[in-house]
Amino acid sequence: MPSASILMVPPTFFSVDYAINPWMNPNTAVDTALALTQWQGLKQTLSTQCHASVLEVPAVEGLPDMVFVANAAIIMPLLASGQKRVLLARFFNEERQGEEGYFQQWFEKQGYLVEKSPAHLPFEGAGEALAWNGFWFASYGQRAVREAHSWLAYYSGQPVISLELVDPKFYHLDVAFCPTDLGYVLYYPAAFSSDSLALLEVIIPPEKRLIVPQAEALQFACNAVSVGNHIVLPCDAPILSQQLEATGHTVHSVDYSEFIKAGGATKCSTLRLTL
Ligand code: ARG
Repeated sequence: MPSASILMVPPTFFSVDYAINPWMNPNTAVDTALALTQWQGLKQTLSTQCHASVLEVPAVEGLPDMVFVANAAIIMPLLASGQKRVLLARFFNEERQGEEGYFQQWFEKQGYLVEKSPAHLPFEGAGEALAWNGFWFASYGQRAVREAHSWLAYYSGQPVISLELVDPKFYHLDVAFCPTDLGYVLYYPAAFSSDSLALLEVIIPPEKRLIVPQAEALQFACNAVSVGNHIVLPCDAPILSQQLEATGHTVHSVDYSEFIKAGGATKCSTLRLTL
């Protein structure tokens, strides 16, 4: 029995054509064949090692960042009727706004009710909202505005803790913060304002927090995919891996260099559909 269902978009049209974060440089060549091999490696690790079932949304030409499907939407709790729901992303950059309609169509076709917040309040899906212990932790300050968080609270009916991101290199929550299925949270403290860091460290007890050192955070170590006791990292991160193993996680490291050129990594390339 698969333990989790995960959505991915193949990197068919992946490239770095524009720069909307500090990692991107349109003059950097992407090795398309290598990108496909790395993406397939992640998919394979998730299905074979982590026992997840992977679903795919077709890629669309002209939308090179669509591979980062974490930004598509936030999966909402089921309605009492059993109806599946998502809260659709509202992209900050024009370059990615074209993705919204394709993701909306895909979710509707799969029987989801698609909820929408106002288009002028950017908030980039599950890249900026992650659940831990009954709370949503949601980011603002780089790609999202804080006002958008109220819409997440309204549609989910769950409390939202707003965290301010202050370093442009850590522009989405999922590059600096990752709750694991075993109840731990790995995070890079310097990505957050001091007030937000204080809040995070009050809510999450010290024995559940794994601090990621800067050198590993800069290799996207926080952008991990957690599935049961398995966790997939886009780099070798010895200090974090040691902490993860010591808390009962089985670590898998994959090579994901081509996608890091676009400022994204493993977790950005997945959207968890189920618990
Ligand atoms: N190039 C993409 C962007 O800037 C990368 C997205 C990474 N996604 C994520 N969930 N962190 O939008």
